[in-house]
Amino acid sequence: MFATEFLDLPPLHSAAGLVRLPGSKSISNRVLLLAGLSAGTTVVHDLLDSDDTRVMLDALRALGCTLERDGDALRVGGLGGRLKTTAAQLFLGNAGTAMRPLTAALALLAATQGGTFELSGVPRMHERPIGDLVDALRQLGCTVDYLGQDGFPPLRLAPGTLHGGDPIRVRGDVSSQFLTALLLALPLVAQAGDIVIEVTGELISKPYVEITLNLLARFGIAVRRDGWQRFTIPAGSAYASPGDIHVEGDASSASYFVALGAIAADGAPVRIEGVGSDSIQGDIRFVEAARAMGADVRGGPGWLEVKRGRFPLEAIELDCNHIPDAAMTLAVMALYARGTTRLTNIASWRVKETDRIAAMAAELRKLGATVDEGADFIAVTPPPQVRPASIRTYDDHRIAMCFSLAAFAGAPVRILDPKCVGKTFPEYFEALFGLVRTPVEAVPVITVDGPTASGKGTLASAVARALGYHFLDSGAVYRATALTAMRRGVAGDDEAALARLAAGLDLHFVDGDAHLGAENVADALRAEDVGLMASRVAAWPAVREALRQLQLGFRRVPGLVADGRDMGTVIFPGADLKVFLTASAGTRAERRYKQLISKGIQASIADLRADLEARDARDSNRSVAPLKPAPDALLLDNSALTVDASMAQVLEAWEQRRPFA
Ligand code: DC
Repeated sequence: MFATEFLDLPPLHSAAGLVRLPGSKSISNRVLLLAGLSAGTTVVHDLLDSDDTRVMLDALRALGCTLERDGDALRVGGLGGRLKTTAAQLFLGNAGTAMRPLTAALALLAATQGGTFELSGVPRMHERPIGDLVDALRQLGCTVDYLGQDGFPPLRLAPGTLHGGDPIRVRGDVSSQFLTALLLALPLVAQAGDIVIEVTGELISKPYVEITLNLLARFGIAVRRDGWQRFTIPAGSAYASPGDIHVEGDASSASYFVALGAIAADGAPVRIEGVGSDSIQGDIRFVEAARAMGADVRGGPGWLEVKRGRFPLEAIELDCNHIPDAAMTLAVMALYARGTTRLTNIASWRVKETDRIAAMAAELRKLGATVDEGADFIAVTPPPQVRPASIRTYDDHRIAMCFSLAAFAGAPVRILDPKCVGKTFPEYFEALFGLVRTPVEAVPVITVDGPTASGKGTLASAVARALGYHFLDSGAVYRATALTAMRRGVAGDDEAALARLAAGLDLHFVDGDAHLGAENVADALRAEDVGLMASRVAAWPAVREALRQLQLGFRRVPGLVADGRDMGTVIFPGADLKVFLTASAGTRAERRYKQLISKGIQASIADLRADLEARDARDSNRSVAPLKPAPDALLLDNSALTVDASMAQVLEAWEQRRPFA
């Protein structure tokens, strides 16, 4: 996951390949609650692992359910409808799919078995309405108190007296989750007689209620439904675990990859696995909307394949009530369409993770689009040329994910707070980057060159981490060559043999550690004798040439920070920012001394300084790629600077070169 402050996407060109979707949020949290309320063990396969499911799992654990990992599956030991604990404070983040159903279930359990539960979330959750659900529960005799503002979480659920008989009335036109919450929870109290729920107002987001009914059926509850107005939970209903249950891939998450195919798969398709034409999720109908805009989509059970069909896309006018979440993706696809795309009947966007109509309008305008918005619609007309923009994401995963698709319009796009995708798709950007192609020249590079022990490695890796970029420690490439030569007894002056060895080097990096084949050599490479040998090996032109391609291969989306001696002069002469880092020989010798002593290795400052100076001389005076600053390098002497201070200077210089001001 990218936990950086922002993530800059370079202009992206095309896309192809396979993506496996994480599990559906809607199905995961419904299944978890049903498993938690059922008796016995339910084994849940392919569960989504994200912020929203984590809060549900924490809540179930606090309520006394048992949760055990079983390989890739999760074994949930349910309560069997009996409270194990009668008091708990549950923090539910920004997960509507946890807040609403848990409110209903715990209100009923507290009323019938005694108990006091407090449910809260992040500040935005305390702005998301729940009053209609609370009203419905109060009609039944549940005790629900608002601990903050009336109509909103946090809530306290306390003992009460249920009175059955009358139909329970609930509004359906603000959020379908109120009805879903009641449907999931009311089987808890359906032993004696039928329970009838009547929906007032036009029910929105019906496909989500269909998911609820479908999963209730899997847990043995056969709800009868008259149109979308009246739902009956038959007397004697009781949850029965299906034993094993599989969670489909998330159809809303699929929308980004369907759109990706429609926009950018101009050769081989984007193949999506985990959700397909047999999906029980309403957002699968996003596919129809994407087709209407021009996507070429094929599909079967559990898979979809998408390519460009008509392009530019065609603008559409669509009532999106049935696909409220995925419809946000259409608003970004509109950037690639001829004409104005108009999405209507989306008032529910205003009460989601953020006011999504306002947010989409504001951010699309930054890209240059003309946007018209109303209480329940948005209309998007693309600009002649999309502008670079820094996109605010409002702690809303879907804004971050759908705006990443704007990077195919020719301009770079900055996504602020990219980690908000953790709500439903923590590895979203990694999945996207696995599919996209872009000419290497479009991938930004920052080089940090300098003499040995100048701290360039520490600086460069910190900058890479701050930007979410790849990191190339080219010193490790030469050290790995040296280590291999030493192990095989190849002499430091046998240029031809060293070059052959360098060309065949099986070097790759795993979590920042260098591996030669299957062996982690990170520690071995740091030895002083390996460093000295590296400096000798690195003086041979044939060796340097053999290692060139390997180093160029690190330039991948979203960007690269490379440190070494010749990153800015030879390997990446067109780098977007070049830093030449140095420090006095005395300072560097002292730093190396402290490093060695801290590892329990004996050393003398005077000897270290002599070694450093010898290596500086060799690295600077060799005929190929000598150590010297590129003419356009930013010179930084960090003798008197902390790592943070050096990093701040580099990031500042980088920011000035970015188009997002
Ligand atoms: O940065 P370092 O100490 O890990 O590098 C080890 C040796 O590799 C160094 O003495 C010179 C050589 N080197 C090089 O010639 N060019 C690079 N880009 C990186 C390292």
